[in-house]
Amino acid sequence: MSADLATLERVLGARKSVRAFLPTPVPRERLARVFAAAQRAPSWCNTQPWRVVVTEPPRTDVVRDALVAAARGGLPSPDVPFPMDYPEPYLAHRRACGFALYGAMGIARDDKSRRYDAWLRNYQIFDAPHLAVVGVDRRLGPYALIDVGVWLGQLLAAFTADGLAACSMASIAAYPKVLREQLGFAPEVDLLFGIAIGLEDEASPINQFRTARDPVEANVTFLA
Ligand SMILES: Cc1cc2nc3c(=O)[nH]c(=O)nc-3n(C[C@H](O)[C@H](O)[C@H](O)COP(=O)(O)O)c2cc1C
Repeated sequence: MSADLATLERVLGARKSVRAFLPTPVPRERLARVFAAAQRAPSWCNTQPWRVVVTEPPRTDVVRDALVAAARGGLPSPDVPFPMDYPEPYLAHRRACGFALYGAMGIARDDKSRRYDAWLRNYQIFDAPHLAVVGVDRRLGPYALIDVGVWLGQLLAAFTADGLAACSMASIAAYPKVLREQLGFAPEVDLLFGIAIGLEDEASPINQFRTARDPVEANVTFLA
């Protein structure tokens, strides 16, 4: 095995979604370098269809307040529909993830009030100092969504490699009107998800759990 693959395995293995951050902002140059690394992502005919706005303090707090107000009072209306049903094996994966997440926070299944507060943490951007809001030019059709996904994977790996923490959040895409008002996306852009960015609060219980993965045979078939 090459040393490069070993390094990449270490970075990919260390990456995790972080849901509690220190308030310390990340210097713009450091963020820009990570986004520049992800900019190398491949895409259909090199169309590079990701459209991204990154907030820094104090703007992050303005967007945070607007998102919390929308989540408390508004009806979700995502540009791209969220999944409605989770057939197996996806339902089991989803349940295990939720169970571990609420377990890490010590929230019981029937504790509606604390579950609501935990859900609202998404809109508080988990107190991160930065939010990236990610969209795609809808005129390119569904394949452009793959391009954005590839870009996201590279971006998250680059954050980990630089010691930065992040959490992808489709939750905030439930309120695209607020994000458009606050951040000024072009009308042809569908908003897909946010990314909370900053330094991990390593002491927070919510950052202590790790999600599992199926063995590779569950997803990948080799045929000779
Ligand atoms: C497109 C996308 C949207 C996501 N949306 C949310 C979200 O709204 N809230 C959240 O807490 N985590 C969200 N996540 C994080 C996933 O729950 C997480 O990636 C998954 O459970 C695997 O855990 P890991 O990232 O720690 O490996 C999202 C991840 C992706 C890729």
